[in-house]
Amino acid sequence: HRHVDHATPERVTEAVQSGHFHPRIPDYERFDAYRATGGYDTLRSLRETGDWEAVQERVLTAGLRGLGGAGFPSGKKWGFVRANPGPRYLAVNGDEGEPGTFKDRYYLERTPHLFLEGMLIAAWAVEAEVAFIYMRDEYPAVLEILRREIATLEDAGIVAPGYIDLRRGAGAYICGEESAMIESIEGKRGIPRLRPPYVAQVGVFDRPTLVHNVETLHWVARVCREGPEALNVHEHNGRTGLRSYSVSGRVAVPGVYLLHAGSTIKDVIEAAGGMAEGHTLKAYQPGGPSSGLLPATMDDVPLDFDTLQPHGSFIGSAAVVVLSDHDSARDAALNMLRFFEDESCGQCTPCRSGCEKAVKLMQADRWDAALLTDLCEVMVDASICGLGQAAPNPILHVLKHFPDEVS
Ligand code: NAI
Ligand code: SF4
Repeated sequence: HRHVDHATPERVTEAVQSGHFHPRIPDYERFDAYRATGGYDTLRSLRETGDWEAVQERVLTAGLRGLGGAGFPSGKKWGFVRANPGPRYLAVNGDEGEPGTFKDRYYLERTPHLFLEGMLIAAWAVEAEVAFIYMRDEYPAVLEILRREIATLEDAGIVAPGYIDLRRGAGAYICGEESAMIESIEGKRGIPRLRPPYVAQVGVFDRPTLVHNVETLHWVARVCREGPEALNVHEHNGRTGLRSYSVSGRVAVPGVYLLHAGSTIKDVIEAAGGMAEGHTLKAYQPGGPSSGLLPATMDDVPLDFDTLQPHGSFIGSAAVVVLSDHDSARDAALNMLRFFEDESCGQCTPCRSGCEKAVKLMQADRWDAALLTDLCEVMVDASICGLGQAAPNPILHVLKHFPDEVS
């Protein structure tokens, strides 16, 4: 799926402004091809005679968990949303912003109808009045594919015109946080809300809202069509299921790899063709910068939900970034904190000031470990949302696993 894009950012901006921008559209599975293999038959039969609780049971049996990163059991969410009176909405989180994560793009640029059918099945299950898709604007080809294919679904009578409301994000990382995304859908500045209430109770325009990540819905369609076996027969290292790892950094062949949920960093690197020539594994991010930086010695831990918790980390969206002996863990962590400083929405002080202060402290030759640890504690305990709570991870991990680089 890799391609070299020779368009510089300046040329792209110029092309967009002049109205001559045409993203390169990859060769994806069209509506007719998808229909020819039974696509949308599941949706049709569910709409005619389906029992939403039977489908929920199937999704729960499959062990499907939210693949935006939090791993919340997907079927449970349907029950939470249904427990509240309508009108209800569905909002798809396509604001794939975690650095290193590109699996949603991968699936959308190949099999958009699996996602769209899964979305319509979930919308049916919670009786959603509108299905919003919040898609990041940095994926112009995906936006074009969705525009075309949503129009095709309307023409084919599968959805009423306007039922699927495609919205474009505008480049803010925080708008991938579900309640900030909802604020943005409502036309407001995207800042996270305090939880509870959860969006299942108070979501878009204060109505109960089912929020799912793109890949989660891709699997809803597969599980409904193929049965829970699409996921739950896969076992490895005591873990069940499959994970789409977005692999980048110092590996031979970066890309998206669908592997067993119990895969270790060794398995992931092997799938990506091994380390890049001349590089030795030094550290890795299991799930983007929010998950911090783990050392090469942790090469036998299954990279799945829950398994990294004892190590002060998490798999998140499975954005595996591989660092080698050519890289500095300290520089990588500083880079991550600069990212969080830029992307903090500024709403709460522990995160807004904390990220800024952390970046300053991390620029010193020697890190003040006590002060940084204190700062991290405040950020974890007192930040409103996951950004501020997870931002300290790279700092804490460098202090723990790479102390020689900062003392
Ligand atoms: P969370 O665990 O707070 O919530 C997960 C989901 O479950 C949400 O939809 C929430 O509304 C729902 N939920 C949780 N408890 C509930 C309850 N009692 N009742 C009803 N609903 C409930 O996690 P959060 O903050 O939404 O997501 C954090 C994850 O997002 C991290 O793992 C991080 O890696 C990932 N992430 C992914 C990005 C990406 O680009 N894919 C970007 C940034 C972060
Ligand atoms: Fe905004 Fe950061 Fe507070 Fe989240 S933790 S609400 S991003 S300032």
